[in-house]
Amino acid sequence: MSVSDPVENALDCFDAGDILRAEKISFEGLFRNLQPVEIEIGCGKGKFLISRAEQCPGINFLGIDRVAKWMKAGQRKKGRLNLQNVRFFRTDIRLVLEKTPLQSIHIFHLYFPDPWPKRRHRPRRLVTAKFLQLLHSRLLDGGLIEMATDDADYFSQMKAEAEALSFLWREKRESRERFLDTAKTSYEIKYESAGRKLYYLELKAAISRNGGIGERASGGVEERASGRAKEREIL
Ligand SMILES: C[S@@+](CC[C@H](N)C(=O)[O-])C[C@H]1O[C@@H](n2cnc3c(N)ncnc32)[C@H](O)[C@@H]1O
Repeated sequence: MSVSDPVENALDCFDAGDILRAEKISFEGLFRNLQPVEIEIGCGKGKFLISRAEQCPGINFLGIDRVAKWMKAGQRKKGRLNLQNVRFFRTDIRLVLEKTPLQSIHIFHLYFPDPWPKRRHRPRRLVTAKFLQLLHSRLLDGGLIEMATDDADYFSQMKAEAEALSFLWREKRESRERFLDTAKTSYEIKYESAGRKLYYLELKAAISRNGGIGERASGGVEERASGRAKEREIL
């Protein structure tokens, strides 16, 4: 076993079983039911995810974070509350997305991703057009990407990257207040109590019947590519 193997790293911490070894994740196998699935990217201690899972027992929640020590708190709380609809994986979200079936997810939650404020570090930011396109390809029609940041520059980048792919979205909404009536994340609470300005962006996916591209873009031949071809293109 290689310590640097991302699958091994994901498996040795939490209850991933053989899930990440398969070519595609079976959410039915993971949760043992066919409920809708929401994924939180960079879930940290899982405060938001655990609250939402308590609030919505008819939805399954997958929390992903690269760092295990934060998620252990969430994993313990999940055990105390005996929540059946939550799983945590320690791994890079990009590995999970690669193995997530096309058009299978109801909501991606991405709150306070590392802002990398120094100019030379900005290429490390997670939210790029390519990343949004990857999330879009895994969303169901009308599925949502919920994002938040306290970094005004990163917020401008999020909006610009989404705008560059405007044909993928049915709706784009921005706000200074959260859209979902669910418990806040740890960073959200910390930043709010410090009086920082917070920025929220919501993208609603448009998926055509013939693949993973927005209805409004259905004029081009390339844009009519099948879901499978589209998947190859963006991975
Ligand atoms: C600033 S923290 C925010 C945590 C939480 N969302 C909150 O609002 O309290 C960003 C989190 O994203 C995680 N992270 C960063 N890049 C990631 C990636 N590529 N895959 C999975 N997790 C990632 C970090 O380990 C960290 O826990």
